[in-house]
Amino acid sequence: MLLEKILADSPNDGPLHVVPSLDSSTSPKPSDAYIMQGATRERRVATYHLILAPTHACNLRCQHCYLPDHAAQTIPKGTALRLLHEWDEIAGDETPGRRGIFHVKGGEPLVYKPLSAMLQAMHSLSHLHFMMTTNGTLFSRSHWQTLASLNEASDGAVTVIVSLDGASAATHQLLRGPDSFEPTMQALHGLRERGIRTYINSVLHADNVHEIDSVIDLALNLRIAQLNFLPFVPKGFGQDMRKRQLPHRLAYEKLRESYLRLSKCHRSLLAGSLPDIVTGESNGSFTAAHECVAAYRGLLYVKPDGHAYTCPNLEAKDYSVGSVHSASLRSILDGLPELYKNLHSDGKSDRYICMGERKLYEQMRSEATQLTNLRVLQADLSDNKKRVDEMSSFCVSRNW
Ligand SMILES: C[S@@+](CC[C@H](N)C(=O)[O-])C[C@H]1O[C@@H](n2cnc3c(N)ncnc32)[C@H](O)[C@@H]1O
Ligand code: SF4
Repeated sequence: MLLEKILADSPNDGPLHVVPSLDSSTSPKPSDAYIMQGATRERRVATYHLILAPTHACNLRCQHCYLPDHAAQTIPKGTALRLLHEWDEIAGDETPGRRGIFHVKGGEPLVYKPLSAMLQAMHSLSHLHFMMTTNGTLFSRSHWQTLASLNEASDGAVTVIVSLDGASAATHQLLRGPDSFEPTMQALHGLRERGIRTYINSVLHADNVHEIDSVIDLALNLRIAQLNFLPFVPKGFGQDMRKRQLPHRLAYEKLRESYLRLSKCHRSLLAGSLPDIVTGESNGSFTAAHECVAAYRGLLYVKPDGHAYTCPNLEAKDYSVGSVHSASLRSILDGLPELYKNLHSDGKSDRYICMGERKLYEQMRSEATQLTNLRVLQADLSDNKKRVDEMSSFCVSRNW
């Protein structure tokens, strides 16, 4: 019944995937997965998704971190609450019957003091699903209380994404530093005990790629709803470990091997990953991929200084679509078509590569190999694929 409702709710060019999606107006279950996808012709994401990085401050100093700094600047509490209300109204008006996502990341969201007030405010909003990406090391009693109470009151409209970069303490801590593994594992258990839908983000690089299957096993044992393997992008602090970046084709192959080893009922764990999209295309459960969803209506990323972008991978000043301190979210959304034109000014659109990564490598001329690696992946996957009129666009970076 739930699945029938979801398929009926799906946009025409959305995938007929067997995983219930958060697009549903029906109460999501803890097993729900989320695929960030958009209607290609309308240039609109199916589920409106606003990512707020209210601060870059963080208790950890991860080697791979794409942030440029850990500055203490924050979005003021009043602004954060206003953004919640504005996004609720927009999601209600523009995606009737669905819930938009309000997603807090950072920096570390658990160091952001107004987080509790935001969770309280969510109780009076009916069109939003709350999402948060965290390193999981700083949950306080009050965080647990406010999250669990919102989860219960909203009938499960809460998803917490925990970052775990290996299945063992040694591997995870290669990036995240000493004593970070245990508290993160405790957070994963705490979320499970409280019945809060949990995803894991795991950044893939040369020194943890051998643990893909162990991370999958760990996620299955913890009943994680979705496991996002993120390709490492050498940005910000992460530039210093660029030698550990995997060639894109290799990362894809490794993930695909693991995906195909999973039984069909367990593949939903990797829903929306590139192997899942490519497999779905070949067996007809996805309409063909067209391009990434950058600059599609409904996808925004707001940084601590208030500047809005379309996603965390395209946050150089040139790509700003306005500031939340001087413009409403509606008028900021209206600037996305112009940004889309700017991003596609060369007329090229790649079906399986992230526009943010592409633009980054185009700017870093010394890193021509990375651009070549992206192109190799694009060319190999595009072989024998027929272009069709009805197509969907996806986020292939999974960096949300
Ligand atoms: C910037 S962090 C912010 C939230 C929180 N502090 C955390 O670590 O989960 C958001 C996500 O981006 C991932 N990430 C950070 N740097 C990255 C990079 N250079 N390439 C790919 N993903 C990265 C993190 O591992 C995390 O899952
Ligand atoms: S990846 Fe997250 S936890 Fe690590 S330094 Fe960056 S913001 Fe902090």
